[in-house]
Amino acid sequence: MAMRIDPIAEFRKDHSMVRDLLLELINALDRLDVQRSLEILIELDRLGGPHFRFEEETLYPMMEKFYGREYLEYLLSAHDKVIRAARRIAEVLGKGEITREEADELIGLIRRDVLPHPIECEGLVLLAEKLSKEELERVAESIEKARSEGVPLIEWAERIRARKV
Ligand SMILES: [Fe+2]
Repeated sequence: MAMRIDPIAEFRKDHSMVRDLLLELINALDRLDVQRSLEILIELDRLGGPHFRFEEETLYPMMEKFYGREYLEYLLSAHDKVIRAARRIAEVLGKGEITREEADELIGLIRRDVLPHPIECEGLVLLAEKLSKEELERVAESIEKARSEGVPLIEWAERIRARKV
């Protein structure tokens, strides 16, 4: 059966979109633009949910044979940090207004706990390229399933993700 999507290309495209959105979010927060910041957060939530989901349900455990249990645990803990940061950003922006101090706090949080993850996850392409054709087919199916269900990040973390943070 022919592969419907190229899973590595999709994986990388997500990371590029997240990079652009995070840089734009930092910029919007710096301008104290709550409306635009919220729009970007919603977009990140929508994109991040299915991405984290297929990674945790399929790709990350599949690559444990390369990087071992300890690094798998590290990757999951990196997702924990992103989830906590997303909740904090939503909490502040949900007030409908933002102070300079809050904007600086959120920018610091994004730079410390969010932005490093897509950078590192993009590096995992090096190992994903070593997966077999059959394994990549399973990753492709997992991406399609997660996208078609389309559960946003914060909701997925609350309702579906086995690991609670
Ligand atoms: Fe990723």
